[in-house]
Order: sequence, then structure tokens, then C-alpha cells
Amino acid sequence: MSIKKIAKEQPETFEFFEENKLLAKNEIKKYPKGRQASAVISLLYLVQKQNNNWIPLAALKYVAKLLDIPYTQVYEVSTFYSMFNLSPVGKYFVQVCTTSPCMIRGSKKITDICKKHISKKQNELSLNKLCSWVEVECLGACINAPMMQINQDYFEDLDETKTEEIVKKLLDDKMPETALTIKRKNGMLEKIKTNLVEIENA
Ligand code: FES
Repeated sequence: MSIKKIAKEQPETFEFFEENKLLAKNEIKKYPKGRQASAVISLLYLVQKQNNNWIPLAALKYVAKLLDIPYTQVYEVSTFYSMFNLSPVGKYFVQVCTTSPCMIRGSKKITDICKKHISKKQNELSLNKLCSWVEVECLGACINAPMMQINQDYFEDLDETKTEEIVKKLLDDKMPETALTIKRKNGMLEKIKTNLVEIENA
């Protein structure tokens, strides 16, 4: 389960860079008058992009003011979606799916490796501050379970050896190449095709 951690150390203020002010304005313009609250996710995404992949409380207030909506409404959205981080994350942010299909296929082994090499608890930076990890709900790649997401990339069909290799590379400040770790194409069966065999490329 994804646990939201609010950073203890918070900047007192937040303001968009000029270019993001323009982007925010354009996002807000996409919605009819009185419906500007609909831009909240886009604006939170912009905040996170500007602020090293996490959102301080001051930014929630800033967004609420820009959209003229209550602070609690922005807070609710930011705590609901696991894509928003409310405390600093590593340069390499590892999200391990632990929903049922991944759990059945061994996600516990993946989180154990994260605990061993990155940090004992989720949402904490590794000793060299490069990496952090968190458990998340289904990331939509169940057919290639177990899997994890690192920054924007998916790593699927994981086992202990492969996961350990990947995590060690991250801690070495290297982004591993993404690939399915067993020989199959996309969501193809692991061993042999049992249907549609007569259709080429099926
Ligand atoms: S259950 Fe893990 S990706 Fe869906």
C-alpha cells in the first residue's frame, strides 16, 4: 500500500518560475469559468516537475490560491494520487507494485531488496541520497508481474537477481536499461503460444 509521507522540513514559500506561470495560465484557460479547479492535477504536476519531484505544503497553498479553491481541496488531490510526492524522493525513485498479481508473483522479494539496499523504510533516501522507494498499487503491467517503475520507466518480469542488479546500478548513479527480463515480446506467454498460432505475428 502506498503511504504518503509529508516532509518535516518545508520551505516557507513557493512560486512558479515564469515559464511555469505561463503554462499554468494556459492549463487554467482550458476550463470554463468557475471550473478552474479542474486544472489542479496539471498544476500539481508542474509544481512537482519544478521542485525535484516533490510538492511542499507551501505549493499546495500556492496552487489553491491560483485556482481560487480551498487549500484542503488541493491537499485531498495531492494525498489521493500516488503520483504526487509530498516529501523529497531520490534522483532514482523506485515504485514497487504490490497489488495482488504482483504479490502472487513475488513482489515481497522485490520490496525486501529495496529495504536491504536502499532504505529500511519506504519514503526514505538511501545513504548516498540517490535513491528512494515506495510501494504502490497496480501500475497496469500485471501480465508481466512482478514489476516496478523507476522514474518514468517500467521494469517487468523481475526476479531477485535482476532486481538486485538494477538497484545496485541505481545506487551507483547509473540508470539501467529497461527490458523484460525473460525472453518474450510485450505480454506474450512465457513459453509457447497456445492459440492464434496460425496467425503470423499474433
Ligand atoms: S498488479 Fe502489479 S502491475 Fe498490476
